[in-house]
Amino acid sequence: MADILIRGVSKAFGATPVLKGVSLGVHDGEFISLVGPSGCGKSTLLRILAGLERQDAGEVHMAGECMDALAPGARDIAMVFQSYALYPHLTVRENIAVPLSVRRLNRWQRLPVVGGIWPGSRAIRQQIDDEVKAAAGQLDIGHLLERKPGQLSGGQRQRTALGRAMVRRPRAFLMDEPLSNLDANLRVQMRSEIVALHRALGGTFVYVTHDQTEALTMSTRVAVMIDGVLLQVASPADIYFDPSDLRVAEFIGNPRINLLACETNADGQVFHRATSLGLALAKPAGAGMRVTVGLRPEAIRLGPWDRSGLHAVVRTHEHLGGEVLVQVELTAGAGKVTARCDALGALPGIGSEVTMRFEPGRALVFDGHGQRLALAPSCRA
Ligand SMILES: Nc1ncnc2c1ncn2[C@@H]1O[C@H](COP(=O)(O)OP(=O)(O)O)[C@@H](O)[C@H]1O
Ligand SMILES: [Mg+2]
Repeated sequence: MADILIRGVSKAFGATPVLKGVSLGVHDGEFISLVGPSGCGKSTLLRILAGLERQDAGEVHMAGECMDALAPGARDIAMVFQSYALYPHLTVRENIAVPLSVRRLNRWQRLPVVGGIWPGSRAIRQQIDDEVKAAAGQLDIGHLLERKPGQLSGGQRQRTALGRAMVRRPRAFLMDEPLSNLDANLRVQMRSEIVALHRALGGTFVYVTHDQTEALTMSTRVAVMIDGVLLQVASPADIYFDPSDLRVAEFIGNPRINLLACETNADGQVFHRATSLGLALAKPAGAGMRVTVGLRPEAIRLGPWDRSGLHAVVRTHEHLGGEVLVQVELTAGAGKVTARCDALGALPGIGSEVTMRFEPGRALVFDGHGQRLALAPSCRA
């Protein structure tokens, strides 16, 4: 059963549509990433899930129950924001304890002095403190409990915000770009910590990011959203190797996928006029259509010019350590292509003529609307 079910959710701000009929099922205990460029509507969708924003159309269900009439506090979910949203005047201990104090102590018991002597409050406070310490220990911030947010590093603040979400033991965690304020090293470290946290807690995680690396490395499924539309929901490998839409292929992948503007010939097969490259489709398209052939940089092989493939000239080398991105220019103004090469292999020199080859089965073909076209089995062999 889907733990979270989003059905046909639309939202506009004024006359601007932001979400256009988004549907998504998130499995119980799953870690799913929602990835897309800035402004595509990710935060808006998350805020609708949390009940902080109201959709114009569509429904949100959790555990089979419609959430739409429920206030944020009644939804059994915790949200972690990029900005941490910690109380600056409270210590780490007090910040993490906030959701528990609000839930378990009455108005009088929460007061600093009166609360200390109010009947029953001592045992409850002790219990809260134990839970705060356990969460802080799990996040490795147990030694920082008396500090205020101003005395913490970015990573420690983020951990405090995670601790505050954890103690609620919510059914689902919604995270909105929680790592984007951290420096690069810490981001990589926190990535694996959040994955470990998901394993330890076992809740459902919906993780919003504009960073494709985070989405691909952290989650079991990735939902790619562009311009308020969910284009594809699939495993990280399928999103990368088997994109269903040209916009997904262009957004995911660093360096970007190489695109060749092609057409279909009289037989309805893919044809690249400048290089005479041809590819067979499973279902021939109409003649004279525009199609796009996408090639990932690692699908391209470069060798000395020997007329066995496409002719190209090497323009630049970009050294990335273990690998080198080699940019070549195809003959006859057919554009530039980037190949990912092994830094320890034989690199063709800048200015040299090369043969560019690729396995036909690794070509990704898209029609004029950006929809993927399957290749004939002969290409896939
Ligand atoms: N409260 C709001 N009022 C008006 N426009 C908004 C509001 N919230 C978001 N938007 C607009 O909606 C679009 C999507 O925003 P958002 O969901 O924050 O995108 P993302 O999180 O993917 O970067 C943006 O163009 C943004 O300016
Ligand atoms: Mg956002």
